[in-house]
Amino acid sequence: MVRPATASDVPALLALWEVAAENDARPADSAAKVELLLARDPEACILAEQDGRVVASLISGWDGWRAHLYRLAVHPDVRRQGVGRLLIAHAEERFRALGAGRIDAMVLEGNDLGQTIWRAAGYVAQPEWRRWVKPLG
Ligand SMILES: CC(C)(COP(=O)(O)OP(=O)(O)OC[C@H]1O[C@@H](n2cnc3c(N)ncnc32)[C@H](O)[C@@H]1OP(=O)(O)O)[C@@H](O)C(=O)NCCC(=O)NCCS
Repeated sequence: MVRPATASDVPALLALWEVAAENDARPADSAAKVELLLARDPEACILAEQDGRVVASLISGWDGWRAHLYRLAVHPDVRRQGVGRLLIAHAEERFRALGAGRIDAMVLEGNDLGQTIWRAAGYVAQPEWRRWVKPLG
């Protein structure tokens, strides 16, 4: 079952990301940050459930201009069963309904496994772009 995450899913999401998300160098996750996301856009965080257990996530960020996908994470127990592909399809439907014209996905350069699913879903790397970041202290 695929559905938007709610505040009661936050502990399960944090636990999932401990074991399944890419990028150890990312800023620490916290319940407060996820709650902020859900308050800002209750449909943004899509999750997959199996037997009542949260097994996968995908954040689909829409700001009215750009459509971003990130935090695609599927629990190791249920990989290679089409769950990731299903979440991407749901996010694409959501973006289409919102009027987005193009989607981008954050994928680490060295994440060969991550790259396989984006390629399979029709996404193409844009080597002319790099991400520039500045932490807000
Ligand atoms: C990458 C990840 C999200 C894939 O999720 P998944 O549910 O196992 O993927 P799916 O079963 O939907 O696979 C969809 C397609 O992706 C590709 N793919 C996924 N896993 C693959 C693997 N281990 N080897 C080769 N291709 C793979 C295949 O093309 C697959 O289609 P197919 O099964 O018909 O061949 C999952 O492995 C994961 O959470 N990895 C750690 C976190 C991560 O790297 N996330 C991506 C961030 S950019």
